[in-house]
Amino acid sequence: MRSIASRMSVMTGEGALSVYARAKELESQGRSIIHLELGEPDFHAGASVVESAVKALTEGKDRYCAVIGVPALREEIAAYLQRTRNINVSSGNVVIAPGCKAALFFAMMALLEPGDEVLYPDPGFPGYASIALGLGAAPVPFELSSRNHFQPDLSEVAAKITRHTRMLLTNSPGNPTGTVYTDAVQRGLAELAVKHDLWVLSDEIYARIIYGGEYASMLSYPGMPERTLIIDGFSKSFAMTGWRLGYTVAPPEVVPALAMMAVNTYTCVAEFTQYAAIDALRDRDGTTPRMVGEFARRREQFVRDLNRVPGFRCQPPEGAFYAWVDISGTGTSAEEVCRVLLEDAGVAAIPGAAFGPSGKDFVRFSFASSVANLQEATARIMKVSAAWQGTLAER
Ligand SMILES: Cc1ncc(COP(=O)(O)O)c(C=O)c1O
Repeated sequence: MRSIASRMSVMTGEGALSVYARAKELESQGRSIIHLELGEPDFHAGASVVESAVKALTEGKDRYCAVIGVPALREEIAAYLQRTRNINVSSGNVVIAPGCKAALFFAMMALLEPGDEVLYPDPGFPGYASIALGLGAAPVPFELSSRNHFQPDLSEVAAKITRHTRMLLTNSPGNPTGTVYTDAVQRGLAELAVKHDLWVLSDEIYARIIYGGEYASMLSYPGMPERTLIIDGFSKSFAMTGWRLGYTVAPPEVVPALAMMAVNTYTCVAEFTQYAAIDALRDRDGTTPRMVGEFARRREQFVRDLNRVPGFRCQPPEGAFYAWVDISGTGTSAEEVCRVLLEDAGVAAIPGAAFGPSGKDFVRFSFASSVANLQEATARIMKVSAAWQGTLAER
């Protein structure tokens, strides 16, 4: 009997993509839908980035190229990380990948044995647990709870470390909570990683999208350079989701393993996009600060408006572009709230359980949408909130 490999049955999809599919179906029936489900900036790459891509193509930069990425881009990334994160890495540590998700997958495949335990944030990006499971490893969640302002609880993380723990996954600013880990938390996590000799996979894809303060990479803490892999890329900070460009910064002994993964899968990342990425990092158009400034304005307004909805409670996120709303006050499940929002109000949002069990009483809204859309969305939500206000009154 022909069959699909069993590892596929333990991997999971993404809640955002299934909500998006239903939202598109409703749209095709003529319904007006406000899309707040996807984690995609409503901006595009700066004009100079697009020009660089066209120029590179015209110059014939459309061939197979260096497996771990063109040297000019890898050097630019090292300089960019020094400039924006104050960390010293060499271009020899940088491996270009077709998106952050691919970078995550290959890093985990390079470092995990079946049965290894991987500590990861819950709620968190759905890929963390899914990839670990697909590789035969055991994902072990640590909770980001509202009681703790969605910061990792160091004593919980410490208590969950066993002799099988191989990797600690961090994500600051985090999807879906928007938490920027405090210095004390990062220092504490780094100390645990050193004490138990763990790999640290630091997903820093939202590092540029923060609303105050300086960003500190996990790699900047004592004992971290030799054990930390940074995952970052161009999807969020440079609004280049569809370009499929990401990278890993890895200790020298891990780089050949990532190169081996590239040789056996994607061969290399499209050359002309890599030249355009150099321009994105230089940001001559000021795209990133302009976008982050706009997100900051939307954050103020959207969080304020969401907190006016009966039964909704939302702390302003410190980074990324998601409003993580506690809906326990509605007396209704997050799935039902999202169903009413989509089917009756035409507002697409994701039930928090899509990000792990600790997200059960939450809904994630992306505010990477225009101010007009966000205002219209909260007006529509207010109207349908009558659906759960009855439940509120009964209590
Ligand atoms: C925390 C986190 N990591 C990784 C990714 C994947 O990024 P990419 O589009 O570059 O594959 C996402 C995308 O939503 C994300 O939120």
